[in-house]
Amino acid sequence: MAKTRNEIRFLLNGSEKRLTEVGASDTLLDFLRLDCGLRGTKEGCAEGDCGACTVLVGRRHGAGLRYETVNACIRLLPSVDLCHVVTIEHLAGRDGPLHPVQQAMVDKHGSQCGFCTPGIVMSLYALWMETPRPEVGAIETALQGNLCRCTGYGPILAAAKAAADLGAPEADVLVREREAVRAQLAALDDGARVEVARGDDRAILPADADDLAAVLAEEPKATIVAGSTDVGLWITKFMRAISPAVFIGELADLKGIEVTDEAVTLGAGVTYSECESTIAEVFPHLAEFWGRIGGQQVRNMGTVGGNVANGSPIGDTPPVLIALGAEVTLRKGDERRAVALEDFFIAYGKQDRALGDFVESLRIPRPKPGVFHAAYKISKRRDEDISSVCGGFALELADGKVAAARLAFGGMAATPKRAPKAEAALVGRAWDAAAADAAAAALAEDFTPISDWRASKEYRMAAAQNLLRRLYLETQGGDRPARLVRA
Ligand SMILES: Cc1cc2nc3c(=O)[nH]c(=O)nc-3n(C[C@H](O)[C@H](O)[C@H](O)COP(=O)(O)OP(=O)(O)OC[C@H]3O[C@@H](n4cnc5c(N)ncnc54)[C@H](O)[C@@H]3O)c2cc1C
Ligand code: FES
Ligand code: FES
Repeated sequence: MAKTRNEIRFLLNGSEKRLTEVGASDTLLDFLRLDCGLRGTKEGCAEGDCGACTVLVGRRHGAGLRYETVNACIRLLPSVDLCHVVTIEHLAGRDGPLHPVQQAMVDKHGSQCGFCTPGIVMSLYALWMETPRPEVGAIETALQGNLCRCTGYGPILAAAKAAADLGAPEADVLVREREAVRAQLAALDDGARVEVARGDDRAILPADADDLAAVLAEEPKATIVAGSTDVGLWITKFMRAISPAVFIGELADLKGIEVTDEAVTLGAGVTYSECESTIAEVFPHLAEFWGRIGGQQVRNMGTVGGNVANGSPIGDTPPVLIALGAEVTLRKGDERRAVALEDFFIAYGKQDRALGDFVESLRIPRPKPGVFHAAYKISKRRDEDISSVCGGFALELADGKVAAARLAFGGMAATPKRAPKAEAALVGRAWDAAAADAAAAALAEDFTPISDWRASKEYRMAAAQNLLRRLYLETQGGDRPARLVRA
């Protein structure tokens, strides 16, 4: 067994922290505000939506150190082991000069009530460090997960553009001291399994994937926590106990991204942000779609593995990965089994995952030549919103006819699911508007969607049917080629 350490170690702004009494469900936000008195970081929604709680988490990445925005309200404290947490208080001392991003917000009137402002400053700070003179699109992406109720975004966009005139990132403490901080974090890392608790609320951070398998053999009912963008809400909204919880988000063994001529394989701990460029390169039809999953903070924390393992009928990646023919590898002890993703979802809340199994990786075959791929998300808001309906389609055409079709939907049934009747209505016939209409009609035999506060059943069915018509129109050329790629 790996050696065990009974404290989490991390850097908070300029100081080192070692904590022994830490519960699995302690949030980073409560720790900052209640234990450390760092009240610049605000609590708005406590569910990852508003961004008022945005802080930076720096973690070692290859030979470097990567700072990312995260939602402290759903980030769980044990998960910052061996990380550098940076809050708004680190930007400017109480009596010191404002940071260029803060000064730009003042100069451009980017703040009114100020409640959202620390979170917005942290998001713009992260952007400014990497891209001091950003285009509007990059600013909007950086702010996808930050809501402001009073200022209006015009002054905030102006501040984002003006910050570079007030100071260059080279002079910034997080840029200047990056190597030293990385070395400090490396020195804290003893390669041990970490076990901490607050009363009965226990957290385990395995040393590596083999140790994870061993922990789950001992504690098969433990809650696996990757990015906690789903699990965090179980705590803050449903007051659910998650102990004992096994934190896997930082396991290097689960962070692999392998690209071959046949497929892309993502380790279960790979976040949306970490694989974003690979996904856009190998599956260009997913480039825009990927940026519609959550907001930047959620994509920095959330994993594709967690999205699949969670098994939500409205998770965004299952339909598009099913259309691509993806498979999931599950591990228990040293045993591994691969399951086609479309077979993984058995019923609402029930996946083909036995106690003690964990998702190790996802294999996504490269698109084949001659196959059209498309991915569509319908939600009430463009950004930071869950789908009402989601569609992932693969259409193989030969001599103007449909040779094969994979049409997968989310939001239409209790699980993400293919549409066999609609697929059958297409295969073998000419690909024309009548074929798309026939497939749309057949969808009514495939699905009986439900009404909820996201969408009515009638809306869901009409939207799904229209996605098939849209697929047809977009295969005929049009003004949205980025959505549809002919491999
Ligand atoms: C504000 C906000 C916006 C969101 N927007 C979207 C959206 O647009 N689209 C969307 O699809 N989702 C969205 N989500 C949901 C969530 O971000 C995703 O489902 C995410 O992919 C979950 O990944 P995670 O790593 O955070 O999982 P976690 O929350 O850590 O875990 C989720 C579930 O998976 C299990 N699990 C995680 N990893 C493994 C593993 N390796 N093996 C076995 N079980 C595992 C956990 O036990 C848990 O049951 C949003 C969430 C928030 C808070
Ligand atoms: S408090 Fe709203 S995202 Fe955290
Ligand atoms: S300034 Fe009031 S919420 Fe943004």
